[in-house]
Amino acid sequence: MNPVKVGLMGLGTVGGGTVSVLHRNGAEIARRAGRGIVISHAAAKVYDASRINGIESIARITDDAWQVVDDPEVSIVVELIGGYSPARELVLRAIENGKHVVTANKALIARHGNEIFEAARKKGVVVAFEAAVAGGIPIIKAVREGLAANRIEWIAGIINGTGNFILTEMRDKGRDFDDVLKEAQALGYAEADPTFDVEGIDAAHKLTILSSIAFGIPLQFEKCYTEGITRISREDVTYAGEMGYRIKHLGVTRKTDKGVELRVHPTLIPARRLIANVDGVMNAVLVHGDAVGPTLYYGAGAGAEPTASAVVADLVDVVRALTTDPGNRVPHLAFQPSALSDIPVLPMDEVVTAYYLRMTVQDKPGVLAQIAGIFGNAGISIEAMEQKEPGEGETLVPLIMLTQRVREQAMNEAIAAIAKLDVISGEIVRIRLESLR
Ligand code: HSE
Repeated sequence: MNPVKVGLMGLGTVGGGTVSVLHRNGAEIARRAGRGIVISHAAAKVYDASRINGIESIARITDDAWQVVDDPEVSIVVELIGGYSPARELVLRAIENGKHVVTANKALIARHGNEIFEAARKKGVVVAFEAAVAGGIPIIKAVREGLAANRIEWIAGIINGTGNFILTEMRDKGRDFDDVLKEAQALGYAEADPTFDVEGIDAAHKLTILSSIAFGIPLQFEKCYTEGITRISREDVTYAGEMGYRIKHLGVTRKTDKGVELRVHPTLIPARRLIANVDGVMNAVLVHGDAVGPTLYYGAGAGAEPTASAVVADLVDVVRALTTDPGNRVPHLAFQPSALSDIPVLPMDEVVTAYYLRMTVQDKPGVLAQIAGIFGNAGISIEAMEQKEPGEGETLVPLIMLTQRVREQAMNEAIAAIAKLDVISGEIVRIRLESLR
């Protein structure tokens, strides 16, 4: 049988990795897919041919991606350009032309996935996006297919390699935030706009996708609560460690009676949890299903070949599906499109979680009583508390508190009341805490 012809848009970090992996493992991949897979046409504005093994095997390379999506010989288009536009227009045109699509573009899927999947359904083509979430970890396949028997209860993941790399280097080596970020950029981990990494937007894209395939809800990126890691201080990393916790930038999505929680923020997690020990650029996703219990998926969340691993696996899946009836394929969002749920995504005020708080207080009698009184009136239970020693001649001391789980709105109101006390100095730091039990 003739090999399947693939059009590739983008020859950057992931595009180059995809060419290399397909070239190196072509024979093995063909044994799995049942047919050879060749990149017959590629498009990139700029690329470094000397860094891409096997680039000479691509028959045609142009700087115009529209030629790829309109190429009648191409059956599958791989979109590795990234960003919202023109990726959206190119993917929709490929679908319109009856081509299957493989993409690593989490921003595109999170924001425009509903539109793209509907267009693909109408044309009977597949849009595969394993590489969009957690790089090389086959988490989409695991949740969508491997856990199909379960009611998924919650997912918590470290799903941005750059952010995890920064937090790890800051904690272990005391390195400076900007210095580590520059290294992540040089290694090809960071997004084109690295604020997407450090402000949690990239993780929010990925979490939005995970939440939809876990709970069978439409993609609702705009409702994801997103808080970055730029304000995490070394003090908080140290105090959290002393209390038996690690601070991780976590994406959490949970189904409750009232709706779905969808949130990305720095989070204290017990240091003894496996996921708390996922360091560097590695990603990990903890999925809790009602039948299977907790399952943990770990691997490289960014980088050329790890991400290419997911892209090529999608290519193999699409090649295997070429002759199947479109109605019998795995649905894009795991649930049949007509069976998606309209359960709401909860506003952050409604989310229930525990908290780490750090405030600077005057070291004198009655201070703790005032703070505890506000928490007591708000129905917030204090789990642990520690007052640090005052420095030489200091009258202000750091006070660290851990609370039990409470609605975010009640916590916001309590923090606002405490901030008004004249025994408090400066900002009250609040970091959410999840036991992940
Ligand atoms: N910038 C992303 C990360 C790349 O650091 O995880 C993979 O999506």
